[in-house]
Amino acid sequence: MSDHHILQLGVNVDHIATLRQARGTNYPDPLQAADIARQAGADGVTVHLREDRRHIQDYDVFGIREGVNLPMNFEMAVTQEMLQIAKQVKPHECCLVPEKREELTTEGGLNVIDQLSDLKPFIAELKEQAILVSLFIDPDEAQIQASNEAGADIVELHTGTYADCSADQQLSELERVQHGARVAHSLGLQVNAGHGLHYQNVTAIAEIPELVCLNIGHSIVARASMTGFYEAVFAMKQIMIGARLESEGEGT
Ligand code: PXP
Repeated sequence: MSDHHILQLGVNVDHIATLRQARGTNYPDPLQAADIARQAGADGVTVHLREDRRHIQDYDVFGIREGVNLPMNFEMAVTQEMLQIAKQVKPHECCLVPEKREELTTEGGLNVIDQLSDLKPFIAELKEQAILVSLFIDPDEAQIQASNEAGADIVELHTGTYADCSADQQLSELERVQHGARVAHSLGLQVNAGHGLHYQNVTAIAEIPELVCLNIGHSIVARASMTGFYEAVFAMKQIMIGARLESEGEGT
């Protein structure tokens, strides 16, 4: 992860686990998806171990850390439980995110200003383990400055508002992200971005020169489910045809 001119892609495999957890099977496997992402050119793998374990499980985090040759970005809430897990996993970086049980996905960035006194020792403890610390924040100047003060190495600018707003608001939301990236970069922070990015809205964000890495999950998993659908149906049909041919052959 050293060439800062090439924008990096961190692939979030949470929703591969969502599909698995929906049926309690052992497939599809986020570890396998992370390795496919690596083969396709991903620069990192992201997993969010949520407090309610709704998608990624503890064994996924340890398995991917051991079994996939990519830097891991471990997304976690600011809790003692997650701190202990992070110390065992020792990922390349931890991204601290706000977490509410009832939310569908991470809503809004971390309020670093309000939590500064709690965050400082928490971040210091992660950094003692040689883990880089990223804070997921709204592209807001005061939050960026507080992140720097808190001791973060990286800020991940929340692109969810840009992604979800109406077309007439998109330019001003883009400008907020552009401005945030400039401010964070001028403070010496690494600047990443993510949330809600998809194939139609990623270009303007990817053009922001200060950005080092985009973390993208849902749209990639969604597209894979469509681009892989033909092959999946075809393969199932072939097995069924083969089964009939074989059983009819046995009968003659
Ligand atoms: N970055 C952070 C901090 C996130 O919480 C998420 C969602 O888990 C993402 C990036 C990826 O968002 P999406 O799945 O919408 O691409």
